Amino acid sequence: MEIGWIPNQRQRQVLIFFVLLSMSGADTELGPYFVVEEMEKGSFVANLGKDLGLELPQLSTRRARVISQGNKEHLQLKVQTGDLLINEKIDREELCGTTEPCILYFQVLMEMPLEIFQAELRVKDINDNSPVFTEKEMVFKILENSPLGNTFLLNNALDLDVGNNNVQKYNISPNSHFHVLTRNRSDGRKYPELVLEKELDREQEPEVRLTLTALDGGSPPRSGTSQVRIEIVDINDNAPEFQQPIYKVQVPENSSVGSLVVTVSARDIDSGAYGQIVYTLAHSSEETNKILEVNPMTGEIRLKKQVDFETVKFYEMDIEATDGGGLSGKCTLVLQVVDINDNPPEVTMSAITNPVPENSPDTVVAVFSVSDSDSGTNGKMVSSIPEDLPFLLKSSGKNFYTLVTERALDREERDEYNITITVSDLGTPRLQTQHTITLQVSDMNDNAPEFTQSSYTLWVRENNSPALHIGTISATDRDSGSNAQLTYSLLPGPQPGADAAAALVSINADSGQLFALRALDYEALQAFEVRVRAADRGSPPLSSQALVRVQVLDANDNSPFVLYPLQNASAPCTELLPRAAEPGYLVSKVVAVDRDSGQNAWLSFQLLKATEPGLFSVWPHNGEVRTARLLSERDAPKHRLLLLVKDNGEPPRSASVTLHVLLVDGFSQPYLPLPDAAAPERAQPDRLTAYLVIALAAVSSLFLLSLLLFVAARLCRRSRARSLAGCALPDGPLPGHLLDVSGTGTLAHSYQYEVCLQGGAGTNEFKFLKPIIPNLQPQGSGKEIEENSPFRNSLGFNY
Ligand SMILES: *[C@@H]1O[C@H](CO)[C@@H](O)[C@H](O)[C@H]1NC(C)=O
Ligand SMILES: *[C@@H]1O[C@H](CO)[C@@H](O)[C@H](O)[C@H]1NC(C)=O
Ligand SMILES: *[C@@H]1O[C@H](CO)[C@@H](O)[C@H](O)[C@H]1NC(C)=O
Ligand SMILES: *[C@@H]1O[C@H](CO)[C@@H](O)[C@H](O)[C@H]1NC(C)=O
Repeated sequence: MEIGWIPNQRQRQVLIFFVLLSMSGADTELGPYFVVEEMEKGSFVANLGKDLGLELPQLSTRRARVISQGNKEHLQLKVQTGDLLINEKIDREELCGTTEPCILYFQVLMEMPLEIFQAELRVKDINDNSPVFTEKEMVFKILENSPLGNTFLLNNALDLDVGNNNVQKYNISPNSHFHVLTRNRSDGRKYPELVLEKELDREQEPEVRLTLTALDGGSPPRSGTSQVRIEIVDINDNAPEFQQPIYKVQVPENSSVGSLVVTVSARDIDSGAYGQIVYTLAHSSEETNKILEVNPMTGEIRLKKQVDFETVKFYEMDIEATDGGGLSGKCTLVLQVVDINDNPPEVTMSAITNPVPENSPDTVVAVFSVSDSDSGTNGKMVSSIPEDLPFLLKSSGKNFYTLVTERALDREERDEYNITITVSDLGTPRLQTQHTITLQVSDMNDNAPEFTQSSYTLWVRENNSPALHIGTISATDRDSGSNAQLTYSLLPGPQPGADAAAALVSINADSGQLFALRALDYEALQAFEVRVRAADRGSPPLSSQALVRVQVLDANDNSPFVLYPLQNASAPCTELLPRAAEPGYLVSKVVAVDRDSGQNAWLSFQLLKATEPGLFSVWPHNGEVRTARLLSERDAPKHRLLLLVKDNGEPPRSASVTLHVLLVDGFSQPYLPLPDAAAPERAQPDRLTAYLVIALAAVSSLFLLSLLLFVAARLCRRSRARSLAGCALPDGPLPGHLLDVSGTGTLAHSYQYEVCLQGGAGTNEFKFLKPIIPNLQPQGSGKEIEENSPFRNSLGFNY
């Protein structure tokens, strides 16, 4: 049976019983003995022999022994020496726990006689145990705003030792916020208490780690530690705080919507919801609300709308940051809009003169102003117009310009100008505006009409119908409108007597069409000139003139006219033909004229009918009638020839000639008047003489003729028609307005002399030819000619 460490009621009763029992057997008590715990085995405790008063051998003979409490043999008795020794290490804590004093009761038992001695061993504590905390770490949560002096109970440490060797003191590791107090419990145990001695700030030190040391009172003291972790619990003691009190940003006005202006950032050192920040625009006006938006979470401020420097140059607003606890901080955002050259210049026309009269230099054409809503160089402007235009740009005050004509304009050269005014600003990039004004140049009557030709020649065939359109005269005028509306009129020609010619034609005042007023007669008038005047309707009007020459073209309107032989003579002309004439003898020559000209006056001759065909032949070109063969006695004395004179016109016109030929035997009476029937008989005896005379006369007259011809030709050529008044050759100068008409007659040049001689007044020697060609009037053949026609003079025949 074991005696309990901490005896309860029942154990105590048992103990008392034992004590009483032992005391009843042996009244001797030993001890007490003192021993320190944890002594080595064999350590000496006491000498029981001496204490019992027994001799050594007795101890062994009486078989003395030690009986320990419990089943442990803490002690042993050396009977040889009587020493009580430690048999087994004694642990006080194990033996007694916290009981103090710690007493180990044992008995010394001897036999023969049986003797029991009570003894007690007091075990003294040594500091062989350190304080121990049951928890390695203690965790606390303390509000950061806990008042100073607050105490917090800590767990205490346990020390198995007792008394002074138990925990005596608690220490805490050095720190600035807490100290520890060692408190007494009523049972004497000590416990630690943590005292707050300086304010906590979670934001500075969210957690405090301390080491709590428990010290016992041993010497040297032993200690045990535990960690104390204090989590400081946040309270919303910090307002959000912006990193900058003022954010200054410059925003180019061309920044697109949604672009980031700035990111504001505030900090709240509180944790959790107290540190969560929401950004808002504070006290913002309607205007800024439209312009900017704030991301409440990130603080990014973006453009909600395009900014316009020209409208608002500057925004200022507050931005508020609010944490979850309702605390807020604010900053100011100053937003400066930066001008970008985004506005082209504008041109405002104030006045414009349109149309501009031509011939007006230095005239103000337009007044305009320019403007640009940008600022600085972006708003400075330069204006220009193309250099190749006859206009000048003059500055008339800041941003005001006048456009003036540089020189006189000429509408006929250019009647419209597109003037492009270019205004560009000096920003980068340059913006420019173009404004084009279209100027009309108005007309002034500064150009006279101009004829398409300086002179005109018109042809009109004679015998035209009246009011025949013979041609159109046209002029142009480089002006416009009424300044270019032309009227035509006729003026008398430059030569005297031209009024009459002007009366022959008329002109349409508007169209310039020229009409012949009546039928023209080429034979009367080959050409005439008139002047045409064209005048415009300007004010004052301008005019110019042109010469129009009208040339009359010939038509075959005249039949050939036979000059010889005379056709209406009462006694028809008879040619004498000697019977002895050789073939080819020139019997006669038909002379005819045609008043037409050119082909219409080319005559040809033709034998139509003869009494004796084959006897005569007619030369088609010159009208000579010659014998075709030798004459014979059988040939009839009288012959009648019918000849046709035809011109070459289209259609041809013709005249017929009757020629009488009388065959004679001799040639002695050439001057005889028309022979009667007896004449041939009279001539017979003188035939030979007559032949001789004729031959002589023919030779001499031929010589004289050729000599005279030569002289006459000379004279004629030298003094032309003046010296030969009656011999007006067709190519001589013509009076008045009538023009030279050549080839009026049909005589070939080789026969002209005959005509000339016939008209000559002082050439009497050749009058021998004259009786053959009597006076005649060009009548009965061909066309009638007006009595007072100038034609008569022009031919120069003296009838
Ligand atoms: C605790 O007890 C010790 C000794 O037992 C004594 O010195 C001290 O004053 C006591 N402390 C308190 C706070 O009672
Ligand atoms: C704004 O204008 C500047 C200068 O003209 C140019 O460099 C920039 O690209 C423009 N930005 C936008 C978004 O158009
Ligand atoms: C002026 O501009 C108008 C319209 O663009 C055009 O019809 C006309 O031909 C131009 N005139 C000149 C002389 O360039
Ligand atoms: C022949 O005619 C012309 C002109 O018609 C005339 O002058 C002349 O008297 C006439 N001769 C004869 C003889 O009839």
